[in-house]
Amino acid sequence: MAFRATVLTLYPEMFPGPLGVSLAGRALERGDAVVETRQIRDFGRGRHRAVDDTPAGGGAGMVLRADVLADAIDAACDEGDLRPRLLMSPRGRPLTQDLVRELAAGEGALIVCGRFEGVDERIIEGRGLREVSIGDYVLSGGEIAAMVLLDAVIRLLPGVMGNDQSGLHESFETQRLEHPHYTRPAEWEGRTIPPVLTSGDHGAVERWRRAEAERITAERRPDLLARHGRGDSSA
Ligand code: ADE
Repeated sequence: MAFRATVLTLYPEMFPGPLGVSLAGRALERGDAVVETRQIRDFGRGRHRAVDDTPAGGGAGMVLRADVLADAIDAACDEGDLRPRLLMSPRGRPLTQDLVRELAAGEGALIVCGRFEGVDERIIEGRGLREVSIGDYVLSGGEIAAMVLLDAVIRLLPGVMGNDQSGLHESFETQRLEHPHYTRPAEWEGRTIPPVLTSGDHGAVERWRRAEAERITAERRPDLLARHGRGDSSA
């Protein structure tokens, strides 16, 4: 069964967007993954199909109504739909490669995209939503965050990546940032390629790459080394 994502949004026309091209686009074309959208406004209240209202207690902005979202969620899930239910939100648990891998191993996800100031808190508990953030900045809505999450998940689905090796060595799968890459020409604007890479000594290349990954990670993201311990190349 293909990975199936159901995205609840006020802007379904934003999808598949960038997921429609390149690696993810081909996965969608082949049917390895399905991304379907549901318009939250179809469940809005009154003549104007209102989906939001002013915050209880006063203040700026608008809040997505729990009853409207509940109807949208319930209509999108059959009974026995065991897919995780996510709410894209800057308040959420940070999206990590671990969570991406966990999602890619499952059947799919229901993804609620917030807008406005936020959603009525009661829907989070009432429908078991897991809040996920893609970083410490505020987007105007959850749609782009949902696309980021889906792009990361889709490329891990069986058969999608083509060259499975390229997944094994890349950043975060090894808990290290990537070593530098080079290709032809051998000299460009007076800059050359580190000689070890053209030496033909595969062992030396591997050691150089590990050392460079370690150095760049220590420089830019010492938190990754602290969290996961140092690799073999630290010896
Ligand atoms: N919606 C708005 N900002 C967001 C963020 N940083 N992550 C996920 N969803 C969001």
